[in-house]
Amino acid sequence: MPHAQQLGRYHLLDRIAYGGMAEIYRAKTFDRTGHSHVVAVKRLLGHLIEDQSFLEMLVDEAKISAQLLHPNIARVYEFCHAGGEYFIAMEYVDGKDVRALLERGRQASQPLAPEHVAWIAMEAAQALHSAHIQQDRLGQALHIVHRDVSPSNLLCSYQGVVKLCDFGIAKATLTRVQTKTGVIKGKVKYMSPEQAMGRRLDHRSDLFSLGSVMYEMLTLRPPFQASAEVELIFAVRDARPRPLHELVPNVPPELVAIVDRAMVRSRTARYQSGEQLSLDLRIFLDRYAPGYRRTHFSHFLRRTFAPEIERELRQLEEFVISEAREAEVGVNLIADVLGQDAEFTQFTPLAPTPSQQSSAYTGEFQGARLEPHRLHREPTAIIVNTPTATPSVIPLDEDDLEEN
Ligand SMILES: Nc1ncnc2c1ncn2[C@@H]1O[C@H](COP(=O)(O)OP(=O)(O)OP(=O)(O)O)[C@@H](O)[C@H]1O
Ligand SMILES: [Mg+2]
Repeated sequence: MPHAQQLGRYHLLDRIAYGGMAEIYRAKTFDRTGHSHVVAVKRLLGHLIEDQSFLEMLVDEAKISAQLLHPNIARVYEFCHAGGEYFIAMEYVDGKDVRALLERGRQASQPLAPEHVAWIAMEAAQALHSAHIQQDRLGQALHIVHRDVSPSNLLCSYQGVVKLCDFGIAKATLTRVQTKTGVIKGKVKYMSPEQAMGRRLDHRSDLFSLGSVMYEMLTLRPPFQASAEVELIFAVRDARPRPLHELVPNVPPELVAIVDRAMVRSRTARYQSGEQLSLDLRIFLDRYAPGYRRTHFSHFLRRTFAPEIERELRQLEEFVISEAREAEVGVNLIADVLGQDAEFTQFTPLAPTPSQQSSAYTGEFQGARLEPHRLHREPTAIIVNTPTATPSVIPLDEDDLEEN
């Protein structure tokens, strides 16, 4: 049986993904009532950490994203420095990302049904709207732009809820990867024209990107394709994808019109807010699939990924959590913006004692199937975190958010 490695307050279980920037793990943590909680841990790779200014930028961005509280945004709990490593602990979304849905669709040559596309986009648009109108404590607009609305950052929980993740991280990484040929290519595909051209962005850029993801869900083809990066940038800049009705004549024209309006090259002719976009999608759903609810999407996901769901649950159960060192919880570098009662302060690496286990431990897997944000609202004892070093506080520069 594999042993879970402790990192800060968390025990790393299986690795869900890895890339050029980070490794993503499912991880387990506990509260003093003996309940276990599953979270996602994004462990930053070594070469990023060597670059102090890059790290500071990531911390800055994490501070902003940690303040976004919305049912359709994956919560950020910590940007932690522990055991010589930097990682982000966030809400684990028990489900599949839209990239996996697209892959499944391609295998079966079956694009996503219009009602599921509308549901995913409606939830994502609501997430975007709430971030776009976010203000700081003084009531000043924060001008948050996600910058990387793409299939891999749209997570669909098996409960049927869609959660946007990686707010702000894109800004930090894009500045970093832009110099490295090849890395940017995957990112360009879902960029808005203004973003591909390196212009100043506002929130409407995210709405274009969401339109591009909708286009791909309906056709299984990204709207812009090219063999060379430069050509791809030009294709995105021109924003003239093959008309949807040519590729998929059966898609209801009302939905086609919504995608078209999200993907207009001119920002003024585009949807002006995520709210507008989500309203139009709701109207479409009410006409096209009356009574469509979260449970419909949930059933679709559970049917589509039935074998994976089984396997993912078994994998979690396999891990053994051995001794934990409470002193090694590390320092949360974004603690100053989270406040005294922040959720992370309730997390401890200490597994429950055997007596607690008999009452609470057995229920953990039902717990893990619940919506994570519901799980985390359970009353728990507060663990006082006494950091050994003062977290480095980097002042936020709001103007900087406007730049590309
Ligand atoms: N909070 C989470 N809960 C569940 N799965 C997650 C979570 N965060 C990420 N993942 C999974 O891990 C994958 C990789 O995430 P990561 O953000 O490192 O790379 P990416 O999304 O492919 O690229 P990028 O975010 O840089 O565009 C995601 O696509 C998703 O499937
Ligand atoms: Mg991501």
